[in-house]
Amino acid sequence: WIGLLFRSWSLCFSQAAEGTMVRNIQKVLCVAEKNDAARGIADILSNSRMRRREGFSRFNKIYECQYHMLGQNVAVVMTSVSGHLLAQDFKIPFRKWHSCNPLVLFDAEIETFCPENYMDIKRTLEREVQQCQALVIWTDCDREGENIGFEIINVCKAVKPSLQVFRARFSEITPGAIRTACENLTQPNQNISDAVDVRQELDLRIGAAFTRFQTLRFQKLFPNVLAEQLISYGSCQFPTLGFVVERFKAIQAFVPELFYKIKVTHDHEEGTVDFSWKRNRLFNHTACLVLYQMCMEDPVATVVEIGSRPRSKWRPLPLDTVELEKLASRKLKINAKETMKIAEKLYTQGYISYPRTETNIFPKDLNLPNLVQLQTQDPHWGAFAQRILDQGGPTPRSGTKSDQAHPPIHPTKYAGNLQGNDQRLYEFIVRHFLACCSQDAKGQETTVEIDIANERFVAHGLMILARNYLDVYPYEKWSDKVIPVYERGSRFQPTTVEMTDGETSPPQLLTEADLISLMEKHGIGTDATHAEHIETIKSRMYVGLTPEQRFLPGELGMGLVEGYDAMGYEMSKPDLRAELEADLKLICEGRKEKSVVLREQIQKYKRVFIEAVAKAKKLDEALSQYFGEVTHVAQEEEIYPAMPDPVRKCPQCNSDMVLKTKKNGGHGGGICHVWIPARSKAVPSVCPIITQLWVNMRVNNLTF
Ligand SMILES: *[C@@H]1O[C@H](CO)[C@@H](O)[C@H](O)[C@H]1NC(C)=O
Ligand SMILES: *[C@@H]1O[C@H](CO)[C@@H](O)[C@H](O)[C@H]1NC(C)=O
Ligand SMILES: *[C@@H]1O[C@H](CO)[C@@H](O)[C@H](O)[C@H]1NC(C)=O
Repeated sequence: WIGLLFRSWSLCFSQAAEGTMVRNIQKVLCVAEKNDAARGIADILSNSRMRRREGFSRFNKIYECQYHMLGQNVAVVMTSVSGHLLAQDFKIPFRKWHSCNPLVLFDAEIETFCPENYMDIKRTLEREVQQCQALVIWTDCDREGENIGFEIINVCKAVKPSLQVFRARFSEITPGAIRTACENLTQPNQNISDAVDVRQELDLRIGAAFTRFQTLRFQKLFPNVLAEQLISYGSCQFPTLGFVVERFKAIQAFVPELFYKIKVTHDHEEGTVDFSWKRNRLFNHTACLVLYQMCMEDPVATVVEIGSRPRSKWRPLPLDTVELEKLASRKLKINAKETMKIAEKLYTQGYISYPRTETNIFPKDLNLPNLVQLQTQDPHWGAFAQRILDQGGPTPRSGTKSDQAHPPIHPTKYAGNLQGNDQRLYEFIVRHFLACCSQDAKGQETTVEIDIANERFVAHGLMILARNYLDVYPYEKWSDKVIPVYERGSRFQPTTVEMTDGETSPPQLLTEADLISLMEKHGIGTDATHAEHIETIKSRMYVGLTPEQRFLPGELGMGLVEGYDAMGYEMSKPDLRAELEADLKLICEGRKEKSVVLREQIQKYKRVFIEAVAKAKKLDEALSQYFGEVTHVAQEEEIYPAMPDPVRKCPQCNSDMVLKTKKNGGHGGGICHVWIPARSKAVPSVCPIITQLWVNMRVNNLTF
């Protein structure tokens, strides 16, 4: 299904600019995602002869040159943004933490604006676009990049509505890729950008509602420990935290079991052969002892079976983002966030291809021999690269995943002057690439099976015949294991026959690589965001790292997950978020509309929120296991001032509703607030859903 899914993604991406009237263009504004990328692209377009001048932002320069583009010679004005140019937030009445009931945030109006520190960049764009007839978007070719592209388009079109707009598509900042992109300008893809808008809006609403609810509540309830603590919620953060807690609890719940086994050894001239029991182990001591005693009655071994077969150790698959993060974390001990930061830098400097990719198959049109050739000059792996070329050229292994947008991560330029982790990561990417283009390691495995009193034991020997890729890939080990020649039918006296015991051991705490694997498996976040979510739960103190760099949940993290679990709501489970991610993919593919996804997802999370608030006592209980008794049950008036007016739409009749306090303090269950239509002076018509929520809150003496 991955193939199917991504095929339509590729359609999104390759929609060409055919039929667009391109005439009378003298000057083209080009905008990249970062200054480094702008400089690199301008350097290529101008053959290193661009002119540089200042923009309003001192971090985002302007580079100028001439280039043949859109069928004519044009003046190119190349500049950049610094990631997203615009931001979203609630409108003023909802922005302050105490301004409204957090439930309102699911429907409150949101506005898009340019933050103060990006105004200079915006002003540069607005000034430069005046003289241009066309705009070419050169942001990174992924979802965020497409969205940033539309931010740039909106800013530019606002001052120049007649502007013609194009999108350059590229996976690396190298002369070949940049020139090809110029010859194949396409249209930006609104659907991909829409998916990002949806994600941003949902993250804002869901994150703000739950974060305010949790933070304000627990700061009040546990003032001694949590008074200053931001207790954030995010629909990716929580399942990520959930994985860490789940593993921790599995370890806590683990009961070790004793097991017993029989072990046979046989010394020879070059060492000792270990024979392992074909039953592996038994959990019944008596049973094991009986078998052991039978062996000991006549401990002579008969060789019953000798096998010999070729064994291969497979060279690595082409590198995608998730593998890069996992391998860098395991083999280089560079964490995912740092890895992606370095990889992005190497990409903008033209050393490697775009590091955010789900593809592990090299496209047919990629010139692999050239890429291998580039590495032959290196003193360490150059000879290996040359050997690949001399022995018939690259023979890349192929995976099964393709996003049809970017090739696997590979080196695009030789770098001999990098330092520190930049160098280590670059070296890893090169070695991985060369290993993948080489051959599997080959060996011959021998198997010897012996019989003692009808119990069978096996030993393996390995002779490595050709190390192949292992010569360039020190991150994996494979070693010879020498065993002497045995003859079928022969008998010998083992050196030892022992009965040993052991204990089953619990699983280990998660490493970062384990955590990324789980996130990927359950669809939490994307390859572009795994590292950020992990960073967030660390910075919120929900989890910490052991000295072995394994994730351990903190008290706050434990309390939150246990509390939400106790509600029966799967907040810390991955399903809710995975559904959201799947919907975002459908938007990109043009198979689901933005507005539909927004409506459905907001409704879904709002229901969860209402329920969570109603059952908030479960959270209090879970947290009080760690932070002591609840010291003070606040009234909601202490936390939230009167609601702004009007505050929300009635989900039943869709009219604006405001919250009113009843004069007599309520009746029956103690309802003292009701929602009434904002403009109606008539008898309050109480919306049943809201009333129910309020009843629950009152009955349980709860607050937001
Ligand atoms: C880009 O344009 C060139 C020349 O115009 C053409 O040969 C090539 O096939 C195009 N590449 C893509 C990926 O469309
Ligand atoms: C252990 O094995 C012995 C001998 O086979 C058997 O009699 C006994 O029932 C087993 N005990 C358990 C707990 O299974
Ligand atoms: C974008 O999505 C809409 C439906 O939401 C679809 O009709 C349209 O074809 C899509 N466009 C592209 C370029 O995929």
